[in-house]
Amino acid sequence: MTGSGDARTVALVTGANRGIGLEVARQLARRGMTVVVGAREAAKGEGAAGELASEGLDAHAVVFDVADGASVGRLAEEIEARFGRVDVLVNNAAAFADWTETVSGADLENARTVLDINLFGAWRVTQALLPLLRRGGRGRVVNVSSGAGSHGEPYFGLASGPSAASYAVSKAALTALTSKLAVELDGSGILVNAVDPGLTATAPGMEEMGARPIPEGASSVVWAATLPDDGSTGGFFRDGEPLPW
Ligand SMILES: NC(=O)c1ccc[n+]([C@@H]2O[C@H](COP(=O)([O-])OP(=O)(O)OC[C@H]3O[C@@H](n4cnc5c(N)ncnc54)[C@H](OP(=O)(O)O)[C@@H]3O)[C@@H](O)[C@H]2O)c1
Repeated sequence: MTGSGDARTVALVTGANRGIGLEVARQLARRGMTVVVGAREAAKGEGAAGELASEGLDAHAVVFDVADGASVGRLAEEIEARFGRVDVLVNNAAAFADWTETVSGADLENARTVLDINLFGAWRVTQALLPLLRRGGRGRVVNVSSGAGSHGEPYFGLASGPSAASYAVSKAALTALTSKLAVELDGSGILVNAVDPGLTATAPGMEEMGARPIPEGASSVVWAATLPDDGSTGGFFRDGEPLPW
């Protein structure tokens, strides 16, 4: 049972070797889930899974790059062989853009890389794992988006300024992808939502900018990963509250 954290629930979190992803994996594991820690470097993945295991949690590392189709294809095969299915998929991995990046001045190769990780990375991983998500019949897909891709965020949102253009565009597109997939999967038992963790202190100096502690940002994500069967789908939320986008 996804919502109640049955011990057999399998959750994969991408980009889970640090930051919000690692804490999402921790919080899901504390609910009794088997968590699969996605990382693009083996040592980082093993380190993070080892950290969770040392806390008595059921955590396992998998190595893949969300921007690499072959790598994601191998991931699906590995997950099927080791765990048989996926109940919760948290598309958390992301690349950030320089805050000085504008639409007019952006290096489009850099912008393409940001979109390839943040938008197509989530799309690629979701496509690859959908057959395994369908197996349990009640999966949860959580796309970790951002207020940066929303018109509802007054300080960092789409209308707040020209900076970090490719990141903002990637997150707006990720939220749109969420909506389209939710419609496609309506009635399947799989709930698909986008979540903004809110400004969260995952890098030095962010607390001084007013960012909140990592466990708070992560719990915003965990909310959508543990929705009951009659929970929302196709929405964009922060701390369980709908956000405009
Ligand atoms: N922090 C905030 O204030 C904030 C606010 C709104 C939304 N968000 C969103 O929340 C999520 C987590 O943010 P965060 O601050 O925790 O980020 P973070 O600390 O920078 O961690 C990003 C994670 O993504 C991984 N990653 C990057 N590119 C990857 C790729 N190609 N394949 C696989 N993994 C890849 C990184 O791996 P490496 O360690 O190998 O680099 C790392 O594990 C992101 O989606 C972000 O956009 C964050």
